[in-house]
Amino acid sequence: MNIALINGSPKGGATNSGFLLEKLKPLITEGNELKSYRVNAKQLKPEQYRELNQADVIVLAFPLYFDAIPSHLLRMMVELQQFRQTEQGNPNLIVYALINNGFFEGKQCTIAADIVSNWCVRCGFRFGMVLGHGAGEMLQELKMPLGKGPLKNLGKAMTQLSTAILTRSSAESLFIQPNFPRILWRMAAYFSWHSGAKKNGLRPKDLRKQPFQES
Ligand SMILES: Cc1cc2nc3c(=O)[nH]c(=O)nc-3n(C[C@H](O)[C@H](O)[C@H](O)COP(=O)(O)O)c2cc1C
Repeated sequence: MNIALINGSPKGGATNSGFLLEKLKPLITEGNELKSYRVNAKQLKPEQYRELNQADVIVLAFPLYFDAIPSHLLRMMVELQQFRQTEQGNPNLIVYALINNGFFEGKQCTIAADIVSNWCVRCGFRFGMVLGHGAGEMLQELKMPLGKGPLKNLGKAMTQLSTAILTRSSAESLFIQPNFPRILWRMAAYFSWHSGAKKNGLRPKDLRKQPFQES
């Protein structure tokens, strides 16, 4: 089957969404044709919308932005919805999403998961499931294989996601975080924000300023 993998992170270079897609790929490669797409400021071409509309499976990977979907990706989703109204596509197309977010808890992704599910209804796609993963900015630091150490939960969830994809079935969405103490993650986040502030000539208290409320 044809599986379209869409990285919807607006960032340039390495992304946490890309990390998750790279972990998924080996689990779904055998016997299938995988094609990767990148949606950021540069939008897709008409022939790419045609490919997506005819795919068997679409996997959307993206970061959570304000509890929702980054605007470039949302624009692509609206355009695909419009494209599907003009051209007949695969009636059995099924959509899965791999969302990652900055806060520790993966359950932050539930609203975005609902948005993807509603979009599927509007497009006439089947909705597969969502895997939402918290502490996304940690992911690229974790060099161990899936299923080990802090990636233990992700390993189990990826097995469930890949099984659903390979059988083109719907399953219950999963919202998880790394197997890592939340307090240590918070300390690492503080260190990273504070050292980033220092590099930019700011003090920690500058990060807590609320300029719009002060004026
Ligand atoms: C504009 C913006 C909005 C964000 N909004 C949220 C949010 O609402 N909740 C959250 O947990 N993380 C939020 N984040 C953090 C990102 O989801 C997080 O850094 C993610 O790991 C980035 O993934 P990527 O490398 O695939 O782009 C936001 C980041 C940015 C830049």
